[in-house]
Amino acid sequence: MVLYDVIGKTYAQTRRSDPRIAGKLLEILASSKAHTIADIGAGTGSYAQVLADYGYNVLAIEPSAMMRSQAIAHPAVEWINGSADNLPLFDQAVDAAIVMLAFHHFTDFRQALREIHRVVGNGQIVLFTYDPAMISSFWLTEYFPSLIKDVETTFLPIPELIDEIQSIVVNSVNVIPFPLPNDLSDSFAAVGWARPELYLDRQIRAGISSFAKMDADDLKEGLSRLRVDLASGLWNEKYGYLRQQDQYDVGYRFVY
Ligand SMILES: C[S@@+](CC[C@H](N)C(=O)[O-])C[C@H]1O[C@@H](n2cnc3c(N)ncnc32)[C@H](O)[C@@H]1O
Repeated sequence: MVLYDVIGKTYAQTRRSDPRIAGKLLEILASSKAHTIADIGAGTGSYAQVLADYGYNVLAIEPSAMMRSQAIAHPAVEWINGSADNLPLFDQAVDAAIVMLAFHHFTDFRQALREIHRVVGNGQIVLFTYDPAMISSFWLTEYFPSLIKDVETTFLPIPELIDEIQSIVVNSVNVIPFPLPNDLSDSFAAVGWARPELYLDRQIRAGISSFAKMDADDLKEGLSRLRVDLASGLWNEKYGYLRQQDQYDVGYRFVY
């Protein structure tokens, strides 16, 4: 079963590329002098499209037909049905690769890293991912405690990720925090850090795999407590200061 064939039906509606994330990605890629970039786990292509608009040729690799079916055609984006652990590309077929919030979905991530290295050669590899050490300090886990286990078992700790990359790719690895803006347009898991009401929206939750996978009773209970605390003002009392902040480091990281 391809997970995103089941949970990805309305993905493109809520998971639009965020210009600040895209801007950082383009800035990181600028030094690579790349022409052709593989977007691995490209989803519905929101970041592939940004790269293509900017002038790159993009090979968008995505195993879910449901996700690929939502992509908007772009002359500089070639869509390829494929999986990270067995990339349907020649050795050194691309100059760089990006993996945007997808690495944690790769079941055999070491094989995926070997494959990415094979198709990129000495080119740049950029991951946008999450540091699981940060999850327990995010207020959302007070309402949905199962998120802690989910995130901690899904995302590789950053030091381990660095070791894994270095053992295969050899190059030095940079990690930079990406504090989320309060009006993020890519509605991934922490989108509501300053806008808790967003989590009450079924469609927003549908685009977030941690919610899609959550036990139905845990979800119902957490939503009901969040609703009550928002209505009573308790959420605002405890976390309302976040509504005044422009950005907040929830734990997202560029690794390259
Ligand atoms: C959270 S989505 C991110 C999509 C896109 N990169 C974005 O930022 O919108 C994760 C994507 O990884 C894809 N994926 C899961 N397993 C994969 C694999 N083994 N190889 C490549 N992509 C995979 C899923 O189908 C899904 O589209």
